[in-house]
Amino acid sequence: MDIRAVETTDLDAWVTLRQALWTDLERDTGLDECRAILVNTNEVAFIAWQDDRPVGLIEGQIYRGDDELYGHVEGWYVADEVRGRGVGKALMSALSSWFLHRHIRTVFSDTNPSYPLSPAAHEAAGFEEVDRIIIYRQRLNADRNR
Ligand SMILES: CC(C)(COP(=O)(O)OP(=O)(O)OC[C@H]1O[C@@H](n2cnc3c(N)ncnc32)[C@H](O)[C@@H]1OP(=O)(O)O)[C@@H](O)C(=O)NCCC(=O)NCCS
Repeated sequence: MDIRAVETTDLDAWVTLRQALWTDLERDTGLDECRAILVNTNEVAFIAWQDDRPVGLIEGQIYRGDDELYGHVEGWYVADEVRGRGVGKALMSALSSWFLHRHIRTVFSDTNPSYPLSPAAHEAAGFEEVDRIIIYRQRLNADRNR
């Protein structure tokens, strides 16, 4: 298995992996986002290749916090058939090295119940849970809210 930072020639494989993770992502929108990542020095993506087949993806970005810059994991995906063999950990390790080379000492990530494998994978990669949020929604009714 080979893990490499994405290049322009990887666009096709890259967007296919993104669509496997974010199933409602339109291909054209995904491609536009990929092109934007390629020219932004604060963003990166790594693809895991097995026998020249793309099998995993991680994306990360650097943000400016109140006191320091921090990293954020934007997306993390490994194809079903190769899960549980360390590909996810290897991708996270590549991203962590990329952050460390840019003097980033703290990395955040988030997940939700749509990704049941994610919490164990994050913990195995060295993350600790720091918070949970609840998102509310109310449909406003013109008659009731008058
Ligand atoms: C999360 C994901 C990227 C992990 O990739 P992976 O290649 O399977 O990960 P690894 O093989 O490196 O395993 C990492 C850890 O995850 C856990 N894990 C992996 N597969 C598991 C399974 N089937 N059941 C329970 N835990 C599992 C283990 O704790 C493992 O650590 P260990 O090998 O030290 O025991 C992958 O499962 C995935 O793409 N899931 C769907 C998308 C997703 O949830 N992305 C994260 C969104 S926030």
